[in-house]
Amino acid sequence: MKRFLAILCAAAVCILLALGFRVRAAGKSDYSKQDVQKLLRFLLGDPADDLTGEEPYDLNTDGTWNATDITLMKQELHTVPQSNMLVVYFSRTGNTEKIAEEIIRSTGADRFVIEAAQPYSDADIRYQDDTCRANLEQNDKSVRPEIAQMPASLDGYDVIWLGYPIWWGEEPRIIDTFLENVDLSEKTVIPFCTSGSSGISTSERNIRALVPIGDLRAGKRFAASASAADIQTWIDGMELPVKKTETKIQISVNGQTLTAVPADTEAAAALAEKLRTEPLTLKLNEYGGFEKVGKLPWALPRSDSQISAQAGDILLYQGNQMTIFYGENAWSYTRLARLENITQAELAALFGSGDVTVTLSLDAE
Ligand SMILES: Cc1cc2nc3c(=O)[nH]c(=O)nc-3n(C[C@H](O)[C@H](O)[C@H](O)COP(=O)(O)O)c2cc1C
Repeated sequence: MKRFLAILCAAAVCILLALGFRVRAAGKSDYSKQDVQKLLRFLLGDPADDLTGEEPYDLNTDGTWNATDITLMKQELHTVPQSNMLVVYFSRTGNTEKIAEEIIRSTGADRFVIEAAQPYSDADIRYQDDTCRANLEQNDKSVRPEIAQMPASLDGYDVIWLGYPIWWGEEPRIIDTFLENVDLSEKTVIPFCTSGSSGISTSERNIRALVPIGDLRAGKRFAASASAADIQTWIDGMELPVKKTETKIQISVNGQTLTAVPADTEAAAALAEKLRTEPLTLKLNEYGGFEKVGKLPWALPRSDSQISAQAGDILLYQGNQMTIFYGENAWSYTRLARLENITQAELAALFGSGDVTVTLSLDAE
């Protein structure tokens, strides 16, 4: 029984690993991929990984961690958005899923798979048979096949990528079930589909007519054989809403950690999105006796204006360089953030007279 439980748990953890998840328990530590790998090794019986006393895993604080804790981790996985985008898809034979995988890989979006409460068997989708379940459903616009489990909430998601196969020229009715059970009135929805040859436009019209959607973008039909490059080209051509963040930026320099409040600019939001993926370590060069400046690994959106920079300002220079001011200078910049709770004298002393290396990350608070 114990062994069976361990196998069950291991399977659950494998799924979590495959999802590349990162779970944050209220008031507890982050659960990284490495944590879960350690957990998996323990479950598989590696004596080097005895987790007894590893309090962070014990989510319900009952003194042990077990299948209940894993269930809690899974619940958190579903309730803590890791991105402002969610890829929702239904895929019976895996073609649409392949496209969804690529979108997730490219954008870092979260995933929700629509599964029928009563799964579609092979016979159910044998469209050559007029009386197969899929054909009967598609012939009746009012049918709403039940979904096994709806997402707990779409709060925190600005963008929903919605994927499905084309069945008889339209979206499968189970997509209508999904649409009628969520509130998309303030979301950006991007439909995508796969098909033998039919286009996406009829399903787009159906979706538009079915429920209110904040911003329904033009969708895209892919062949099952679509390449990663095809999908990437489509994604690149899309202007996606950037998540607004209240989160502060942490800046580690010479052993001290400072916090900065992001500016209300597109550049600041884009920087936060980058830092959400991973921290950034930058070498900054001394310049002019008033700033440290370094080249970013990517360009950020410019909205330059003449700024009288003060000590503590973190500004974007020429779209791809970050400057941290410990003195003053007037020039054309885009605001990124402003350091808080530190004086000009403290800043000057901390940054010193030479080059410095800083690490930026998102504040965990
Ligand atoms: C019941 C049914 C109806 C279908 N109708 C169409 C259609 O009208 N036009 C088309 O091009 N392909 C049609 N197809 C093919 C699917 O759209 C195509 O195989 C799709 O990629 C399957 O996606 P999936 O693997 O994500 O389930 C149909 C398939 C089924 C099972």
